[in-house]
Amino acid sequence: MAKVFIVYAHPEPHSFNGAMKDLAAAALTRSGHPVRVSDLYAMKFEPVVDPAQFPQRADPAHFWLQDEQRQAAAIGTHAPDVRAEHEKLFWADLVVFQFPLWWGSMPAIMKGWVDRVFSAGTIYGRGSTGLEGRKALLSVTASDRPDRDEGARQLKAELSHVLNNMLALTRLEPLEPFFVFGPRTLSQADRSLYLREYQDRLLSIAGEIG
Ligand SMILES: Cc1cc2nc3c(=O)[nH]c(=O)nc-3n(C[C@H](O)[C@H](O)[C@H](O)COP(=O)(O)O)c2cc1C
Repeated sequence: MAKVFIVYAHPEPHSFNGAMKDLAAAALTRSGHPVRVSDLYAMKFEPVVDPAQFPQRADPAHFWLQDEQRQAAAIGTHAPDVRAEHEKLFWADLVVFQFPLWWGSMPAIMKGWVDRVFSAGTIYGRGSTGLEGRKALLSVTASDRPDRDEGARQLKAELSHVLNNMLALTRLEPLEPFFVFGPRTLSQADRSLYLREYQDRLLSIAGEIG
């Protein structure tokens, strides 16, 4: 069975993103795939890097985040909230990032999660195999586009910093992203269609993994 970790960022539980997260968790669980969710807004995840998060400094004179992250990994002093996310990442076979496209990227709370959790010495860096062997799915909603295929091409280009930088460094293997366009104006029938399509896609990915 595929272990699935959903990292979810939307401030409104009744949003389309919220519906996608709930559907994913329910459908995967029903099919026997263990699921864990980090609901970043609900958790009030701290997205801001602060030197105070590193009480045992590698260099007390100058705060270099990557050096401090490496030191925290070496001596086991990562903050508990970061350690908890590391544990979920290493537990998972598939990591799903569920978010609305905001300014061509992920909401700031998720970017801050990446800054803190994708840490040097644990998730990437010299001698680290990172999250190798695991897959990643971006599940993203955006404004409406006249053509879905063209829209998907545009969004992949806009999200290349996520696909080719963040995910590549962690060695997560990116799958073809799943996009929803204009969820706010969808008819009830189209909304159900999108959700069905998403459920089928996820179950098929999870089924292939294990
Ligand atoms: C701050 C902000 C920035 C946005 N930036 C973009 C954008 O760059 N591209 C885009 O297609 N839509 C953009 N949108 C629209 C959202 O992506 C869209 O409303 C959302 O995906 C709808 O999903 P939801 O109903 O779950 O919120 C933005 C919305 C907000 C609030």
